[in-house]
Amino acid sequence: MKEKILEYLFEHQQEFTSGEVLRKKFNVSRTAVWKQINALKEEGYQIKSIPNKGYRLQIGEDQLIPYVLEKSLGERIEVFQSIDSTNNYLKKTAQDFPDKMMVLSEEQTKGRGRMGREWYSPKGAGLFFSILLKPKISMQESFIITGIAAAAVSEAIVDTTELPAKIKWPNDIVVNGKKVCGILTEVSGELDGVSYMVVGIGINVNTPGFSEELKGVATSLYLEKGEKVLRKKLFLTIAKKFFHFYGDFTDGKGVQEVHRVLEKNSAILGREVRIIRGQEKKFGKAIAITKEGFLKVRYSSGEEAVLSSGEVSVRGIEGYM
Ligand code: BTN
Repeated sequence: MKEKILEYLFEHQQEFTSGEVLRKKFNVSRTAVWKQINALKEEGYQIKSIPNKGYRLQIGEDQLIPYVLEKSLGERIEVFQSIDSTNNYLKKTAQDFPDKMMVLSEEQTKGRGRMGREWYSPKGAGLFFSILLKPKISMQESFIITGIAAAAVSEAIVDTTELPAKIKWPNDIVVNGKKVCGILTEVSGELDGVSYMVVGIGINVNTPGFSEELKGVATSLYLEKGEKVLRKKLFLTIAKKFFHFYGDFTDGKGVQEVHRVLEKNSAILGREVRIIRGQEKKFGKAIAITKEGFLKVRYSSGEEAVLSSGEVSVRGIEGYM
């Protein structure tokens, strides 16, 4: 019933709706209406109540409202005001939710990056979300899912901000040489295949600044563009592209489009890179992205290798890129 009240208030945002109208419409008591309105307020919805006039939903231009996002995408979304980590949440609840379920939070108190690092997730400044996936694929095939996410994010940033968003294979999106987005893909499965995956995406959208430690390597879309970016529009563009690419992949139509974007938007293809594997450092050139999303390099020795994430970290010869 809460969702129905929300939907009604959303459709009638221009006016006040009296408790009586809601009561009659949904055939419940005034107290029940009042309780549901309070529950919605607790979830973060701003509902103005004036005695004798009723209720009016007030939606900020950049507010992330699950009902609005779900309506636009046709997929299930939960939005938290605060959570430890959206990846942790979906990993804990994976059994209860369907393929393509999304969770987004205004802030994360224990946002996780790769290799045990922390992901800076200040309230309202970024997009911090995770997507639960249950594709019927092998562990080997699951690697392309990170590529699908990277392709969707980089294309969406270019489309909505016109910034030159590039993919630093395999998990980072950079703008002008600094990181604006990180992707953390976690896979659970056995030898016979993937049981579920959680793709976590963190984007520095309107982050006004970074600590001394991060300043040299991180930036935000706001800092690069010089103006605020609407998170809602960016989120919807990413999600639509992601589900389009993912749908083609799971329907057996292939990943040609993703592969084309991974190469076109690559920050490292054709460049000299340093491959770090444990203590070992090697220099080479990034020469291709394979159809599976792996990176092909040619070492200075002339030897060629195909690399997958986790084995290596790729750095440009100079600085972060
Ligand atoms: C990285 O570059 O190290 C990956 C960062 C991934 C951050 C996102 S934010 C949403 C999701 N929840 C997390 O705890 N981490 C990912």
